[in-house]
This record gives sequence, structure tokens and C-alpha cells, in this order.
Amino acid sequence: MGHSSPLPHLSIPLIFPLILLLLHISASWAAPDPVYTSFVQCFSARTKQPSLISQIVYAQNNPSYTSVLRAYIRNARFNTTSTPKPVIIVTPTQESHVQASVLCSKQSGIRIRIRSGGHDYEGVSYVSQEPYIILDMFNLRSVAVDMKEQTAWVQAGATIGELYYRISEKSKVHGFPSAVCPTVGVGGNLCGGGYGFMLRKYGTTADNILDAKMVDVNGRILDRNSMGEDLFWALRGGGGASFGVILAYKINLVAVPPKVTVFRVERTLEESATDIVYRWQHVAPNTDENLFMRMLIQPVTSPVKKGEMTIRASIVALFLGTADDVVALLGKEFPELGLKKEDTREMSWIESIVWVYNGNVTSPNVLLNREPDSATFGKRKSDYVQTPIPKDGLEGLWKRMIEIGETGLAFNPYGGKMSQIPASAVPFPHRAGNLFKIQYSVNWKDGGIEAENNFTAQAKNLYGYMTPFVSKNPRSAFLNYRDLDIGINHHGNNSYEEGKVYGTMYFHENFDRLVKVKTEVDPENFFRNEQSIPPLPRKA
Ligand SMILES: Cc1cc2nc3c(=O)[nH]c(=O)nc-3n(C[C@H](O)[C@H](O)[C@H](O)COP(=O)(O)OP(=O)(O)OC[C@H]3O[C@@H](n4cnc5c(N)ncnc54)[C@H](O)[C@@H]3O)c2cc1C
Ligand SMILES: *[C@@H]1O[C@H](CO)[C@@H](O)[C@H](O)[C@H]1NC(C)=O
Ligand SMILES: *[C@@H]1O[C@H](CO)[C@@H](O)[C@H](O)[C@H]1NC(C)=O
Ligand SMILES: *[C@@H]1O[C@H](CO)[C@@H](O)[C@H](O)[C@H]1NC(C)=O
Ligand SMILES: *[C@@H]1O[C@H](CO)[C@@H](O)[C@H](O)[C@H]1NC(C)=O
Repeated sequence: MGHSSPLPHLSIPLIFPLILLLLHISASWAAPDPVYTSFVQCFSARTKQPSLISQIVYAQNNPSYTSVLRAYIRNARFNTTSTPKPVIIVTPTQESHVQASVLCSKQSGIRIRIRSGGHDYEGVSYVSQEPYIILDMFNLRSVAVDMKEQTAWVQAGATIGELYYRISEKSKVHGFPSAVCPTVGVGGNLCGGGYGFMLRKYGTTADNILDAKMVDVNGRILDRNSMGEDLFWALRGGGGASFGVILAYKINLVAVPPKVTVFRVERTLEESATDIVYRWQHVAPNTDENLFMRMLIQPVTSPVKKGEMTIRASIVALFLGTADDVVALLGKEFPELGLKKEDTREMSWIESIVWVYNGNVTSPNVLLNREPDSATFGKRKSDYVQTPIPKDGLEGLWKRMIEIGETGLAFNPYGGKMSQIPASAVPFPHRAGNLFKIQYSVNWKDGGIEAENNFTAQAKNLYGYMTPFVSKNPRSAFLNYRDLDIGINHHGNNSYEEGKVYGTMYFHENFDRLVKVKTEVDPENFFRNEQSIPPLPRKA
């Protein structure tokens, strides 16, 4: 008693060789990767939980490695044998594991890719051309709603669906203006801007962030107070992966009425779809901010002309108010649509999330489901429209879409609150002057480089066709619709000039402020990827 026994003193150095020995055995006698060995040694020493290592750190020869890797791959393009794979996947269950991961990957000379929900359209959260580890945040997913403050702390690994669900458990008259698709991760969505069907009423997701908790390149945990306003600004739309690892965000809950109204109206070319889309461009960005009318456009087989293709334009809408009010509003502003009360449905806000997601009003429990509903190959691009596209421009677009077949466009209207928020308030800059954002999507079902080249070329072709109709100097793009066609450097060590290409399209004038923050917080460019914010070179 009183004296410390010699045993604990010996145990640490004894356990390390033991772990390494076990790793040797489980590796079927293959020599362990030296990076893995050095990382595990460092990680065990820092977390002081060597017995947990096997559940947190996955080497390539771990039998669960492939299933852990695939669990959050959301695009079959990055699910092939030739896709680069991480040396290690770390799945932290505590914040200290994130700190250790940053420090140990730095010490082992290996890059980090940070993955929350894995929805990055170019797989940037789990694919790198440099040797790398994946820091996979899915275990850190708590949501703490504070109804007194009307706020919530949500960890990066939660999904947007889980966040919505937890809010609705506490209140039927609160919501949050974030992604449409519930499987999207909080980590990537919030740090990339983020939007959903309440965009015109409450702005982007980034506009509703109150605080953030982050691990910096030195392994320190910072919050808004300790990180300062410049870095906090950068984390609201500048893409977190350039600055550190986001652990959690504190968000502002917003008011929603107890009943909202949704509707879906579809028209094919034979039913004047072109006129409807043309008119929509004037109405949707200018109407009452309580109304969000998304326009989805797709080639479909013609219901009237056998064997021919047509275009179907579908308006999918949420109104933060009653059915009578929205029918009256659109009767005045958009009589061509002919919206009738029978076309609408009143429901709670959380039910509207489910309805938009799967076209049905099932139990909100589906929002807790993390399984993807499809695993196709896909490519996305984005644009901003500032003057209405003339009818002949639309007709040319329909022709090209029918040629491609497996393609679709989503037009998301801006205006409302989006026009009132200054372009420099957060890094997301697409505000007043924008009518709507376009998402181009091309999907295909069979793998192989031929199909990929074919379909990505089609996406580029569509994008090329749209040049005269969309924003210029810069041609704007939405960070969360990541597109590596616009400026790519596989090493992630982008120079300022390289970064400026995509940086200006994603962030406009805010790019330079992001570079300044980056230079201050991560001058060695440890946190980097194909489209990260470059630091300025150090003065000699
Ligand atoms: C089916 C689908 C539907 C979508 N719908 C919408 C929508 O309605 N609205 C919308 O705004 N966007 C939407 N998106 C885009 C989506 O918001 C972005 O892809 C977003 O980045 C995804 O976040 P994630 O955590 O799932 O992605 P991840 O792939 O995990 O991460 C995306 C990026 O953020 C970085 N990152 C992730 N977590 C952290 C962290 N904790 N700290 C620092 N950096 C981090 C990653 O390194 C990567 O660069 C959709 C995407 C898909 C595939
Ligand atoms: C990845 O590949 C596996 C095995 O073929 C498959 O089961 C899974 O659905 C694929 N996921 C995606 C997103 O392509
Ligand atoms: C959901 O929609 C499908 C068909 O669209 C229908 O068969 C099913 O009954 C619906 N479920 C509910 C709960 O409404
Ligand atoms: C290329 O794309 C076209 C549609 O644009 C499609 O019809 C064709 O099958 C594709 N070819 C391959 C090899 O995928
Ligand atoms: C980036 O790294 C590659 C490979 O190491 C190197 O060839 C290139 O010069 C680097 N670029 C910059 C801007 O440092």
C-alpha cells in the first residue's frame, strides 16, 4: 500500500509488443504495414486504451475492413477494386480518439480523410491518391436538443435524418433547415453550406450554426470562443476538411407551423411542361418565402406517343402554412399550374420530410435508417441561373436530356431570406441575384471505365450546352455538389492559383478570406484534399 506496485509500471511496454504480435498473427504472417505499426503504437500510447484498439483501428487485413469501408460509400464509382484504399480506418468512439488520430497520422506521415455520412459526390471523404487513413465519424452521433434554448448540439457522425427525428421528438413546432435527403451526414453537410426545403425562409444550414467544436492540426479541441470568429466563420460553409475535424455543431432550431402543406404536380411536354418550367422561373424565386417549389426534370417514356421519349417536369413543394392559403396564393401567381386543393396534403413538418424523401407518409422512423436506397454510379454538377432561360433554350436542353436518357435536373429556387443575407456573412456566397441553382445528375448502372467516361462526358456536354444561360465570371458552383471537373490536383497540395479556380466558383470573394484562415490555422497544409483551401506559401 502506498507504494505503487512495479506491475502497472511494466504493463504498458508489455502490452505493445503483445498487440503487435497479435496483429502479426491475424495478418496471416504478412509483414505489417510500417505505417500501421507506427500509427497503432502512437494511438495506443495517446489513448491509453490498448485493449480497445481492435475495435477502433482497422488495418487492411482486418476481416471487417471491407465492410467498414463500404458502409458509407454512397457512389458505386468509388467502390471498385481499382479505387485507392486507406491503409487504416479509424472509427473513434470518443473525442480523444479523434485527437489521437490527428496527432498520430501527422507523426506517421500519412494523410487523413474525414468521413461523416460519406455522401461526397466525388468520394473525397474516403478516397485519396496519397497514402491515407480514413477517420470515420459514424460512431460520434449524439444529438442533444435543448428546448429551453431552442438549440441543439449535434455530433458530426449523426445523419440529418437523425437530427430531424430527435428535434421532432421534442417539439412539433420546431425544425431545422438542412438537407432533403436524410442519410446525408451532419459533418459534411453543415461545413459545406447545406440546404433543404426551408432555404427561402431560413437560409442555408450554415446560416443557422451557433457554435462548433473542432480538433485542430495540433490535436487541440476548440470551440467558437477559443477558435475565434475567423475560423468559426470558415467552418460555416468553407468545407471543414481544410481546417480540422469537426466534432459537433451547435445549431439554432427554427419555428415550423403544426401543419404544413405539400404537393407534387407533374407535366409532360404534351401537357405544356415547357411553359410551366418557363413560368416557374419567374414565380418560384419571387413568391412568399414560406413556399419552396423544387422543380425536377427528367426524360420519361411518353404516355401518349408509343415508343417515344418526352420530358416530365415535376414540382415538389413545401408550404409553411395551410392548403387553402397556398392554393389561393398560386391561383393568383401561377394560374397556369392550376393547383387544386385535392393536389395538396397537410401534415406535420416531420411528415413532410418523410414525404419528400419517399413520396409517402410513413413513420418518421425511416429517418433513422442509415442504409442507402441505391448503389448506382453517379456524377453531379451544379450551376446558378440569374436570368430566366428562354423557351428555346429549354427546348434545346430537353433534346439533350432525351439523348442521354439516365439524367435528371433539379432546380432549387432561391430568393426570400437568401437574398437578404450578405454574400460575406458565411463562406457560402450565392445570395441576392440568383434565381435558382441547378443540379445536373447522370446515373448509370454498370461499372467499367467505358461507361464512366461515356456518362461523365454526357454530364459535361449538358453543362457545356448551358453555358450561355448560367452565371459567369465566375461560373458559380455549390461546394456540397462537389465536382472535380472544376480544378483538380490529385496531391491536394494545391497552389493558391490552382485553388483559386474552384475556390472562386464555390466561394467568390470569400475564397481569399478562407485562404487567410487556412494559412493561420494549418500553414503546413496537413488537412488537404483535391479541392481544399490552400495556405499561402511561407515567406522564406
Ligand atoms: C443522395 C444525396 C442527397 C443529397 N442531398 C442534399 C441536400 O438535400 N442538400 C444539401 O445541401 N446537400 C445534399 N447532398 C450533398 C451533401 O450535403 C454533401 O455531399 C455533404 O458534403 C455530405 O456530407 P456527408 O457527411 O454525408 O459527406 P462526407 O462524404 O462524409 O463528407 C463530405 C466532405 O466533408 C468533409 N467532412 C465530413 N465530415 C467532416 C468532419 N467531421 N470534419 C471536417 N470535415 C468533414 C469530408 O472530408 C468531405 O470533404 C446530397 C448528397 C447525396 C449523395
Ligand atoms: C459496393 O460493392 C458491394 C459488393 O459488390 C455491394 O454490395 C455494395 O452495394 C456496393 N456499394 C455501392 C455504393 O456501390
Ligand atoms: C406508400 O406508397 C405505396 C405506393 O406508392 C403504397 O403501396 C403504400 O401503401 C404507402 N404506404 C403508406 C403507409 O402510405
Ligand atoms: C453511352 O451513353 C448512351 C446514352 O447517352 C447510352 O445509350 C450508351 O449505352 C452508353 N454506352 C456505354 C458503353 O455505356
Ligand atoms: C504537389 O506534389 C507533387 C507530388 O509530390 C509535386 O510534383 C508537385 O510539384 C507539388 N505541387 C506543389 C504546388 O507543391
